[in-house]
Amino acid sequence: MSSPLKIAVLASGRGSNLAALIEARDAGALPVEFVLVGSDKPAAPALQLAKDAGIPTLALSPKSYADRVSYDLDLFAHVAASGAELLVLAGFMRVISGAALADWPGRVLNIHPSLLPKYRGLHTHRRALEAGDAEHGASVHYVSAELDGGPLIAQARLAIQPGDTEDNLAERLLPLEHHLLPAVVNLIAQRRLALAEAGVTLDGAVLGAPLRLIHGELQRTA
Ligand code: GRF
Repeated sequence: MSSPLKIAVLASGRGSNLAALIEARDAGALPVEFVLVGSDKPAAPALQLAKDAGIPTLALSPKSYADRVSYDLDLFAHVAASGAELLVLAGFMRVISGAALADWPGRVLNIHPSLLPKYRGLHTHRRALEAGDAEHGASVHYVSAELDGGPLIAQARLAIQPGDTEDNLAERLLPLEHHLLPAVVNLIAQRRLALAEAGVTLDGAVLGAPLRLIHGELQRTA
């Protein structure tokens, strides 16, 4: 068996997706070693969660940097120094500059609460409701310098019901996110999923469409 994948996680807020990753690791369902949890918000609950789990943490405030690129480069230098092989953005509320991503092709993931390419950016639940969509969901994708852009890996979908509100839609989606993200990281940790020139590959074959979370399992749809 190959050694556990070394991962770093960046989070700006409450850290429930980080908690889901830690729980999956603790349950023996995710062969990873957490080498760093970083945040742009020193008071982020995600940092405390990491400390409680014995994971090294880093809080870097953008205010202490001249510009976005110098912040990103320093942040990524810390991530590289941690020995991370994969970087997971789990509620990290910043767009990362191309200069920082340049050394990390196919090694940075993000989870976003919409069925991308729909609703990049904020207020995704509200926007799905306002558009009268029948379905909403969450996406995990490789990160590019474009906001919530980059090749899609997998999605979880849920039907919007009459009477759904922004808050309860977010609440119903979150448990799906908590399955989706560890499942994707697990495929990477097992060295089954990668980003190649032709696109995202699973077991060496390019995905024609994002994987879908169905009954807790990631499945091919094309
Ligand atoms: C999640 O909805 C995630 O999809 C988005 O930000 C939120 C983070 O929540 N990118 P948490 O901090 O993981 O609880």
